[in-house]
Amino acid sequence: MLQFGGKVAVITGGASGFGREFARLGASLGMKLVLADVQADALDATVNELKAAGAEVIGKRTDISRSDEVQALADAAVAAFGEVNLLFNNAGVASGGLIWESSEKDWDWVLGVNLRGVIHGVRIFAPLMLAAADKNRDYLGHIVNTASIGGLVTAPMLGTYTVSKHAVVALTESLYHDLSLVSDRVKCSVLCPSFVATGINRSQRNRPAELGVEGTLHRSQLAAQAILDMGTGAGTVSAEQVAQLTFDGIREQRFYICPHPDALSAVRRRFDDIIALRNPHDPFDENQEMRAKVVATLQG
Ligand SMILES: NC(=O)c1ccc[n+]([C@@H]2O[C@H](COP(=O)([O-])OP(=O)(O)OC[C@H]3O[C@@H](n4cnc5c(N)ncnc54)[C@H](O)[C@@H]3O)[C@@H](O)[C@H]2O)c1
Repeated sequence: MLQFGGKVAVITGGASGFGREFARLGASLGMKLVLADVQADALDATVNELKAAGAEVIGKRTDISRSDEVQALADAAVAAFGEVNLLFNNAGVASGGLIWESSEKDWDWVLGVNLRGVIHGVRIFAPLMLAAADKNRDYLGHIVNTASIGGLVTAPMLGTYTVSKHAVVALTESLYHDLSLVSDRVKCSVLCPSFVATGINRSQRNRPAELGVEGTLHRSQLAAQAILDMGTGAGTVSAEQVAQLTFDGIREQRFYICPHPDALSAVRRRFDDIIALRNPHDPFDENQEMRAKVVATLQG
């Protein structure tokens, strides 16, 4: 079992939301931390907070959609602490709108961060972790990829995000099978929360200018923003609780970490539909208020 104290964690998206709570919890357990985030001021603030609390922590500004920057992150982690035991591929962004109204830049941005960022993390860190396990019989490693309940079900108006998160679930299940062929000391989990109040509904704050919104937003994109605002605003589980449940899942070597068990009924319903060859259920059938708001926004 992986003991957290003294071990090294790399956390992407470590400056806000889930990532910052992973860092706070890791620090309280005596972990050494490498925080990566594209937002430099928020990263500095989190690193300073944790240092003031006595943690051993470094920050590395990183755009995870760029493989050279993820490689530089891995190099910085090894230079600072020698090895990496826990990797949280966690940074992500959300945007939406009717799927045909998402621009090529919308797709590039969302898939670049949510999918390619995780691909880079696994491609660059997994070999380091496996090599550490080969070198040291006591080494244990664990990779947690943050997907979403949106990686297990589908919903209207959030197509780019949903596609990216389904891919992260598939990638992480593939990683699980592949790791089990070569090691019993490097494990992985996929984190699939539902809505939680974090900065995710303000993801546009870190959108690079070269992938910026062109022209004015479609009505469907405004409706998607309203869904994100309403959903995260109504979240009943906190980011701190998600972090605790995630660490519990790592300790127990659970693959699926789902902090909102109530949301799993929608997963069952999706698979029941597939197996029965039924058309997909309306995800709004239990939330007519949200459906009415979305339709009203779409119709102007
Ligand atoms: N909050 C929710 O409701 C929810 C639900 C399910 C899944 N998630 C997932 O949780 C993860 C963490 O998001 P959060 O909710 O804490 O949101 P958040 O916005 O509070 O934190 C995300 C962090 O990622 C960083 N980031 C954005 N683009 C980046 C890039 N290119 N490179 C490096 N860092 C980048 C941001 O600066 C931010 O600090 C995301 O993958 C998100 O999709 C969130």
